Amino acid sequence: MKPAAFDVIVIGAGAAGMMCAAQAGQRGRRVLLIDHAAKIGERIRISGGGRCNFTNSKVGAENFLSQNPHFARSALARYSQFDFIKLVERYQIAYHEKTLGQLFCDDSARQIIDMLRAECDLGKVQWAQPCNVQSIEQIDDDGLRFQLSTDSDRGTIRCQSLVIASGGLAIPKLGATPFGYKVAEQFKLPIIAPKPALVPLALAPETLAPLEALAGASLNVATHCEDQPGEFREGMLITHRGLSGPAILQISSYWQMQEYANNKKQPISIDLLPGLDAAAWIAPHRHGKSTLNSLLAEFLPKRFAQEWCALHNWTKPLAEHSRRDVDTMISTLKAWTLMPAGTLGYAKAEVTLGGVDTNALSSKTMETKAIPGLYFIGELVDVTGWLGGYNFQWAWSSGWVAGQYA
Ligand code: FDA
Repeated sequence: MKPAAFDVIVIGAGAAGMMCAAQAGQRGRRVLLIDHAAKIGERIRISGGGRCNFTNSKVGAENFLSQNPHFARSALARYSQFDFIKLVERYQIAYHEKTLGQLFCDDSARQIIDMLRAECDLGKVQWAQPCNVQSIEQIDDDGLRFQLSTDSDRGTIRCQSLVIASGGLAIPKLGATPFGYKVAEQFKLPIIAPKPALVPLALAPETLAPLEALAGASLNVATHCEDQPGEFREGMLITHRGLSGPAILQISSYWQMQEYANNKKQPISIDLLPGLDAAAWIAPHRHGKSTLNSLLAEFLPKRFAQEWCALHNWTKPLAEHSRRDVDTMISTLKAWTLMPAGTLGYAKAEVTLGGVDTNALSSKTMETKAIPGLYFIGELVDVTGWLGGYNFQWAWSSGWVAGQYA
């Protein structure tokens, strides 16, 4: 008896895989969606603190990191944030906008999973889970192009189009595996070395020790690092291991990117007084009795101002500091530079930077150029979004376009 055949097999029932399977199914394709986990959409469930930051009201290619910064443009234009918002509204899922255009469910991320499942049902998608794919073989048999052996009761199965949507490496305990990268290697597709991104930064013990007293401090800053256009003006948290909070997670991706260019990594820079002309602000106090620490308390948490000034030995009244000292205070307040020792790794990362090289893929369809019928979508691909709903939008957009062609 010949193995069961499908038009499309999608491996990975996460954000991108479910979107792709639903679309292909709704086009009338016979689709099988495989996941090795017993539960689907785990990453969606825990995202956004359980409310899923499902997209952003303002999305452009500039919100993504990739070796080809233009690659994401096509998919994002063909299935935009507005298309996903329409889908959410069609399912009457209440949502709200938080800061910086981030859209969250009012109630629960579960609603997004249920919506995607309902979309798959509309496309009569069949499911196989838990199911591990043990091997993939290219075949040429009456239009069928791939044969998969699995450890489930599905046994050996065949398909015309194979979509790999198994995600990145972040948070292994949520079921992340290197499966997709191995498939890319099997088919000799280039890979941009994966790295943890949107991840807290670690500081070396000698940098951390003087900051020990600041652990727990949270402040609004603007962060910057080399090769990053502009700055991220968000919250930062000093921890017992280093730096965290949105402003740090955002630049961590750019900091990690520096390695691709074979550059030595550069320090990050933190503006503690974003939006303020520090020189103009300090000028009237330059010859006065106030200490920097007391003045800073207007903008920074008191404890932080105190410890930070002590750290730099700027505790005397300003009048007693030399002109040079005051100039250094101003430049350090506007660009406090720190060299991270590394990141806290995949266990604490939100996404994976790098992945299947976009040069190997069509930006219109996500199909590989070298292997007809083989597609890669979602986080597995070398397209990494900023924090703020951009990574899900990439999953929806890349999944949707692949679903139109697979
Ligand atoms: P995703 O990881 O969603 O799905 C991959 C699927 O493949 C999983 O179901 C997995 O079980 C399956 N799989 C893996 N290996 C397999 C194998 N060997 N065989 C079969 N199946 C396999 N983004 C955002 O935009 N807004 C947010 O609020 C958040 N919040 C957030 C919180 C946390 C804690 C994390 C870790 C991440 C986020 N993200 C996010 C990022 C977002 O979750 C991520 O970018 C998308 O889920 C990626 O979608 P994919 O479908 O590509 O992978």
